[in-house]
Amino acid sequence: MRVLLRPLTADDAEALVAYVAMATSAPAREQPPEEFAAQARRWLENWTGRELGIACEDEGQLVGAAWARVVDRVLARDPDTGAPLPELIIAVAEHQRGAGLGHRLIDALMQLARTQGIAGLVLTVSERNPVAVRLYEQAGFRHAGDTPHGLGTMIWSTPCDDPMP
Ligand SMILES: CC(C)(COP(=O)(O)OP(=O)(O)OC[C@H]1O[C@@H](n2cnc3c(N)ncnc32)[C@H](O)[C@@H]1OP(=O)(O)O)[C@@H](O)C(=O)NCCC(=O)NCCS
Repeated sequence: MRVLLRPLTADDAEALVAYVAMATSAPAREQPPEEFAAQARRWLENWTGRELGIACEDEGQLVGAAWARVVDRVLARDPDTGAPLPELIIAVAEHQRGAGLGHRLIDALMQLARTQGIAGLVLTVSERNPVAVRLYEQAGFRHAGDTPHGLGTMIWSTPCDDPMP
């Protein structure tokens, strides 16, 4: 397997629909079509290709993606400026899971956030998804409470640069 990482582009929008489905459907529960449609709008509406996003590609095929955007309802804000923090979504194609792509995607997305001067990222995760919880904890996300729908929220704050000596 020779998997490459690259930025997400405008051309990826269609392929990302399947990744929204993977990331937003709870295990062993059929996602009602109207719920999926709302999630697809939330994550892909007005997709420009200039989002903060990383694709994982294997021989030209998308096999994973992670991106972050400011979505309604805003879950967390930069404590200094009040600016909303982008929310993160991630999924890896089933046949490629467990090979480290989740780690690579999230690390690359956090690096991109750093270089773009974004104060941090927020996400929601179900406690019934321990693989994802562990991935986020290892990446440096910290538990920050619960949504009204019973999902956990986790936040990562971009580290400040070391002070000048
Ligand atoms: C969560 C997800 C993105 C992780 O991607 P991945 O490529 O499998 O992750 P990695 O291979 O980098 O593994 C991350 C960690 O999970 C562990 N892991 C991966 N698959 C596992 C499995 N089936 N069972 C137990 N642990 C597993 C890995 O061992 C690794 O832990 P480690 O760093 O301690 O070794 C992927 O499972 C996925 O797409 N799930 C469905 C969508 C989803 O749930 N998205 C998140 C919504 S909040």
